[in-house]
Amino acid sequence: MTFQALPGFRDFAPEDLAFRNHILAAWRRVARRYGFEEYDGPPLEPLELYTAKSGEEIVGQLFDFTDKGGRHVTLRPEMTPTFARMVSARANGLRKPIRWFSVPQLFRYEKQQRGRLREHFQLNCDLVGEAGPLADAEVIALAIDVCRELGLTAADFRVRLSDRRVIQALLVGAGLDPAHHPAALGVVDKLERLDPEARDRAFAGAGLMDYIDAVVDMAVVRSWDQLEDLAERYRVDVSATELRQVHDALGEMGLYEFVEVDLSIVRGLAYYTGTVFELFDRQGKMRAICGGGRYDTLLQSLGGVDLPSVGFGMGDVVLGELLKDRGLRPAAAAGTEVMVAAVTAEDLPATLGLAHELRDAGLAAEYAMNGVALGKQLRQADARGARLAVVIGPDDRATGMVQVKDLHEKTQVAVARDAVVAHCTATLGTS
Ligand code: HAM
Repeated sequence: MTFQALPGFRDFAPEDLAFRNHILAAWRRVARRYGFEEYDGPPLEPLELYTAKSGEEIVGQLFDFTDKGGRHVTLRPEMTPTFARMVSARANGLRKPIRWFSVPQLFRYEKQQRGRLREHFQLNCDLVGEAGPLADAEVIALAIDVCRELGLTAADFRVRLSDRRVIQALLVGAGLDPAHHPAALGVVDKLERLDPEARDRAFAGAGLMDYIDAVVDMAVVRSWDQLEDLAERYRVDVSATELRQVHDALGEMGLYEFVEVDLSIVRGLAYYTGTVFELFDRQGKMRAICGGGRYDTLLQSLGGVDLPSVGFGMGDVVLGELLKDRGLRPAAAAGTEVMVAAVTAEDLPATLGLAHELRDAGLAAEYAMNGVALGKQLRQADARGARLAVVIGPDDRATGMVQVKDLHEKTQVAVARDAVVAHCTATLGTS
């Protein structure tokens, strides 16, 4: 009988975990640089936390079950409702704006495909208590800087920036009653993935046959200039909108080259109320790296606190693929720094003592446990990536010396046993 991980779940062997940690470390570094503090919540939540507010798509993807106490529960598919609950409960005592980040593992029962799994890690950064466009620009800049921190440039990815308020103003301008806006946003969200027939069926299903042209004209807007032309047609003034201000603020930060106005971005989740954005690879080969936006009413609807909020989630799956694609997956770091080798079986006790002293000094040290020949121990040292091998033989023990081989420099020196820990620390400190 053989066992495999469940579909959509990953085993992380050491080299895979090193890569995951590389990404998560960059997430944490950049979030802290923006003054964000880390939090976490439970991986299992009551089902109702999502049914009301997240939107159909995510609710259909829940890993839900009834627990032994008869509660209907689910593994968390996203962090935002947990975050909203936690912040609402503490909001009065927290200094505003609240800047919190988290790195949860999330679970969605999706059809497994490239860039989509049933679990993933997601950086969540959310800023609460600030309604102005600078808060939106701040979290978008953070998302961009995470990608830059990992070595990606404007040639590799872009931010597609939009605003539901602008979209709704244009739809009103085109004569569409606000009652139909959620249905129109639902179709726009899927538009890119639909062929013409499926597209017509989607419009018919949403009762929007008379508005196909208006909605499509809006969804093809890919720049500020195109937006101005369309806005003029519908007599909508977009010059002082938050969308303009967010765009300008990112320009002031020197991030203009990363950002494109793109009204096809509306985001599937039901709670967004204003700015919405997604990060994509430039070649458009992959799914979204990151998505987020402003959700000014969610906190109140979950916890009773009326505070404007904006944030994003960035997954490790698509980002990891893009980094690999661009040759930005770092070589795994060496596991061992010093191999302590014994020439004869009688030297083994001395290697145990020295390996332990090296570990006490904070170095990663190993010794051969099975009395193999010295040549094999040195080959093992190489295979483990060790820079130094300390060899202890009968003569060394008699004279109070050891031999230190630098496996990178291909040199060897005799060092007094008492001084070898300091010698190794100094050598490795400079490598
Ligand atoms: P989301 O668009 O559902 O947003 O997910 C954000 C990112 O997580 C996606 O762009 C994608 O990179 C990654 N992701 C999502 N589902 C999967 C999956 N099944 N497999 C691999 N990666 C995935 C949210 O979750 C919002 N709660 C984000 C947010 C935070 N909005 C405001 N604050």
